[in-house]
Amino acid sequence: MFKFDPFSPEVDANPFPFYQVLRDEHPLFWSEEANMWVLSRYEDIVTALNDWETYSSAQGNLMTELPNRAGATLGTTDPPRHDRLRALIQKAVTKRALDHVMEPARQAAKAHLQAVADKDQFDFVSEFSARYTLDLIVYLFALPAEDQEIVRQKAVLMVQSDPETRTKGPEHLAAYEWMVDYTDKLVAKRKQNPGEDLLSGFITSEIDGEKLLDREIQLTVTTLIMAGIESLSGYMTMLMKNITDHPEARDALVADPSKIPAAIEESLRFNTSAQRFRRCVQKEVTLHGQTMKPGDFVCLAYGSGNRDERQFPNPDVYDVSRNPKGHLGFGGGVHACLGTAIARLACKVAVEEVLTQFPNIGAVDQDLRWMPSSTFRSPLSLLVSTR
Ligand code: HEM
Repeated sequence: MFKFDPFSPEVDANPFPFYQVLRDEHPLFWSEEANMWVLSRYEDIVTALNDWETYSSAQGNLMTELPNRAGATLGTTDPPRHDRLRALIQKAVTKRALDHVMEPARQAAKAHLQAVADKDQFDFVSEFSARYTLDLIVYLFALPAEDQEIVRQKAVLMVQSDPETRTKGPEHLAAYEWMVDYTDKLVAKRKQNPGEDLLSGFITSEIDGEKLLDREIQLTVTTLIMAGIESLSGYMTMLMKNITDHPEARDALVADPSKIPAAIEESLRFNTSAQRFRRCVQKEVTLHGQTMKPGDFVCLAYGSGNRDERQFPNPDVYDVSRNPKGHLGFGGGVHACLGTAIARLACKVAVEEVLTQFPNIGAVDQDLRWMPSSTFRSPLSLLVSTR
């Protein structure tokens, strides 16, 4: 009998054959192991994303949710509360705030690559993507230098879950509590001494006399640190995996760097880190002959929708000139990723710098170990060759 367990090592190793069976034979599937429905076809996922009244985020959007997050921040609220929060936050994420961080981030990327320039191989995760994305978050929020390493460690732990119990273990919960406490103190300090950073932008952001509450700022910063460090670093690693697994794509990007933005979009479609998020059904929905009841959770398998042949011709081919409009790499609907501009820019700078320094960068045979998470899929390390 067919099983789909988003926590299983088989799914971690290669989810795509599972997705194929889901789309073709069980387009609405009840996963006993995950205790939720799974939607896997592109069209069904898009329908769900555009109907937040039926498919609510207010009970949490992570496959294994953190305590006190549901109903409290962007990814875990429905309109109208969500829209008000999003507008206030969006107002602070200006082009100026991004321009401010990209030049120092590029210099940091160069320095990390310079540090491994003499090596034949290096670990793309620990020696590049984890460091560079941390730099970015540090610049965005003006985090004090002495806090950086501990913030990174806690952010990485927060997004993980215990694969045995399928819940957050004590170490994950403790990391989350640490982060909530840390951001609480940071907000208080920054209120006394505001600057040009994004956190200061959240404090001053105002629409029609309304401002973000301290608790909202604190949870938003916690979420953004998590998204910035883990989603971005995980995705950047998957992007580099896609490029190094396809040397012809790498050569095309080296020959013509103007193709890099299209390669970033194709990687978000082809093999991305943010594989699945969840929603909670609010009214009875009958689909493909089965009925979901109010209160049921449903997994939106973005990674599967992105490989749906009903939407993308030859979906299993990584084609950097494809320009896959409407891919689900950043989700969609009211909850579409808020960090798209930062993410795209950060990845563009990273790929430009990596390919300038290492035009022959290549994959090294390795038994990849994946981060224990049912939402995100990214390797804990990725060895690459430099020549
Ligand atoms: C390439 C890296 C990234 C990927 C692949 C990614 C992917 C996603 C996806 C798929 C969602 C939708 C979640 C859902 O459907 O429930 C999302 C939401 C979100 N992302 Fe990202 N993300 C990335 C980077 C970032 C960054 C750098 C930030 C901010 C610093 C960010 C902030 C957010 C926020 C705040 C939301 C919730 C938006 C809302 O609910 O209105 N993301 N992201």
